[in-house]
Amino acid sequence: MTSERPSGEWTAEAMPDQSGRTVVVTGANSGLGFENASAFARKGAHVVMACRSLDRASRARREIESAVDDASVTVLELDLGSLDSIRSFASEFEAAFDRLDVLVNNAGVMFPPYSTTEDGFERQFGVNHLGHFALTGLLLDRIVETNGETRVVTVSSGAHRNGDVDFDDLDRRESYSRFEAYGRSKLANLLFTYELDRRLRAGDLDTIAVAAHPGWSATGLQAGDSEMGTSFARRVLGRIGNAIFGQSAAEGALPTLYAATAENVDGGHYFGPDGFMEMRGSPTRVTSNAKSYDHETAHRLWTVSEEMTGVAFDVESKLVA
Ligand SMILES: NC(=O)c1ccc[n+]([C@@H]2O[C@H](COP(=O)([O-])OP(=O)(O)OC[C@H]3O[C@@H](n4cnc5c(N)ncnc54)[C@H](OP(=O)(O)O)[C@@H]3O)[C@@H](O)[C@H]2O)c1
Repeated sequence: MTSERPSGEWTAEAMPDQSGRTVVVTGANSGLGFENASAFARKGAHVVMACRSLDRASRARREIESAVDDASVTVLELDLGSLDSIRSFASEFEAAFDRLDVLVNNAGVMFPPYSTTEDGFERQFGVNHLGHFALTGLLLDRIVETNGETRVVTVSSGAHRNGDVDFDDLDRRESYSRFEAYGRSKLANLLFTYELDRRLRAGDLDTIAVAAHPGWSATGLQAGDSEMGTSFARRVLGRIGNAIFGQSAAEGALPTLYAATAENVDGGHYFGPDGFMEMRGSPTRVTSNAKSYDHETAHRLWTVSEEMTGVAFDVESKLVA
């Protein structure tokens, strides 16, 4: 039974108790990932912060531990721009944890100049989509074997509307537009979520796949950094935009937390803020563009993603007896 809209102002306090549950949040050291990790810790989950910098992640973990009594948090290294790192993370996780209740595919990069991941994929498509595709595939056994309803939540963006998946030129090295490439990666997040959920349904599994977007939330994403090649002017504009339009990162995390924990959520659904142009507000069910619901594109993207990452996952065969 699905409610189109949570009743009233839904806040992180409304999350059900998460004691005994294990949650992985990618990119948990800053912005929305940090807020997600903090909220899960506050509700008693064991939180695994999956981050590419152990230094930044350890600082963030200490911050959570000082704010939340009895927080239970582990930091594990994960660089979504490296298939080797993703495989190492999955092995380390599986050796240490016998359950995975919620996987939050949150980490992301936005608008960098053209560059490639360690495996030669255009960075935004590689990190935002392919990295999370491979991670989900490698963790899927743990997720479906965990008793009770488990969830894969992937963070997309309203910018998915600016993207297109051109299978003849996924790399776009010659015609790279950082805005279009970001949109494509966020469209891929949705195509992946909806396809994953269809496959989970076909396998009659207790795992659901859902998506969320945070509207415009003031984080380091818009401001970028000089390390990523973001110009000074863009960093200034990003900060001004955040000050005018942005809601807080804690508010922006709510659609993801809702998708990850609320009781009346169905697989294949997408959540975002309910305010003007979905930029801010309380979490509600939203719709994505027509391209994102195209089954044929989603099926093809799945096959191509398996080929590119070397991670093949046969979801339907995972039915636990
Ligand atoms: N903020 C918004 O208004 C907005 C709007 C729509 C969608 N989103 C989405 O929300 C998600 C979170 O973004 P945010 O706003 O919280 O931005 P953020 O503060 O910049 O956080 C991004 C996180 O992703 C991590 N990350 C980047 N590259 C990575 C890699 N190769 N491997 C592992 N982690 C990596 C970053 O780690 P480092 O610290 O090591 O760089 C950081 O922890 C993204 O998927 C973004 O597309 C945000």
